[in-house]
Amino acid sequence: HGAAEVLVASNRGPVSYAVGDDGSIETKRGGGGLVSALSVVDDKLWVCAALDDGDREAVRRGVAEPGVRMLDIDADVYADAYNGVANSVLWFVHHMLYQTPLEPSFGTDFRRRWASYEAYNRALAQALAQEAAPGATVVVQDYHLALVPGMLRELRDDLRIGHFSHTPWAPVDYFRMLPDDIAEQLLRGMLGADRLAFLTRRWADAFTDCCTRILGGTSGTRIGVHGLGADADFLRERAHRDDVGERLTALREQVGEDRKVIVRVDRTELSKNIVRGLHAFELLLETRPEWREKVVHVAFAYPSRQDLAVYRDYTAEVSRVAQAINSRFGTEGWTPVILHVKDDFARSLAAYRLADVALVNPIRDGMNLVAKEVPVVSDDGCVLVLSREAGAYEELGEDALVVNPYDVTGTAAALGAALAMPEDERAQRTKRLAGAATALPPGQWFLDQLEALKAE
Ligand code: G6P
Repeated sequence: HGAAEVLVASNRGPVSYAVGDDGSIETKRGGGGLVSALSVVDDKLWVCAALDDGDREAVRRGVAEPGVRMLDIDADVYADAYNGVANSVLWFVHHMLYQTPLEPSFGTDFRRRWASYEAYNRALAQALAQEAAPGATVVVQDYHLALVPGMLRELRDDLRIGHFSHTPWAPVDYFRMLPDDIAEQLLRGMLGADRLAFLTRRWADAFTDCCTRILGGTSGTRIGVHGLGADADFLRERAHRDDVGERLTALREQVGEDRKVIVRVDRTELSKNIVRGLHAFELLLETRPEWREKVVHVAFAYPSRQDLAVYRDYTAEVSRVAQAINSRFGTEGWTPVILHVKDDFARSLAAYRLADVALVNPIRDGMNLVAKEVPVVSDDGCVLVLSREAGAYEELGEDALVVNPYDVTGTAAALGAALAMPEDERAQRTKRLAGAATALPPGQWFLDQLEALKAE
């Protein structure tokens, strides 16, 4: 037995490492919802995977942040588990991203990758079993680690085990695309937890449906909903630092005076539906010529999962479509789309402050924190155009302009309505959105889960 009373397990941990030019290890601390959520608990151990060569080298040299145990998993096993199963199968199933040419056939190659996924999950479960104090609480995160609760339960029957899904859960008819034995293994793996939690009721119900149809029930595992909110205190302070101010000035200059700004900020991710968003903007310029020269679409699409060819292709398509719009409509003094692909959190916050309209149009999304962050940070109020398929819709739907993400005409119309919204209505909506978006701050979100896990 170890000594940790509260443990968290996730694929991506709170730090990453790189080997610098002089051969020394550089440590980068990550931001993000989970990192700030966990800062409310002092004595915790975070068990995560080494994601790349920099991380692996750090682990081999014994470099470790206090409170973090990073596992050096064989690089091929890890690539099969992370890219081959978690991100190209489970992510695609839960976000319903398969289209005919991409549909899986689950042949022998998949079976090999699945064995890696099992091995990777087992490595995490074993590390947790080693580190956890008697009766400790463990919260496992996301689709990467769906088998960990069941595996950990077998190793340590004394632990309180929770699992939190940050993604949607697939409807049962779609989930059953997976081979029956794999589908069963995933559900049983999850049900090894005392309690499972999801971001919205919709995803929790979809999971329950899968268990009912495939296994005949949830075998006593409790299921809860915790809708992660934006971290208002952190965001407001961070958005007013000098580095954000500098980027705001630069962005204002790029946009030009007296122009409205439509902002989107995403990972370049198929589920985020960036290409249809660009087409909707293009349609707005086409059908509402009065907006030409008067509006700029600021699109930040940060690279993600570039080991997968389908993500590389998508990233290229996003650039192509943005350029096509600029060549079609751009003029001497006006660039309709400003696309940035290099990750820069300070610049994202600057864009949030400047936005008149925020476009959040995912095909499917567990929550979408951008939708919650913009109303909190915006300087002069911002109209939210929001997909009804984002988890955030359940909490923000009333005060956003809601769209069907596949409907480009409808999205273009919503953008037009957002741009034309009177000031006072926009201000009132932004205020209500900010209230709803911050109802459950990250720290409280995590404490609620711990408490619920310990109850009973
Ligand atoms: C989603 C997942 C997270 C993941 C993040 C970034 O939000 O729910 O678990 O960390 O995407 O993806 P990446 O593959 O870069 O970790």
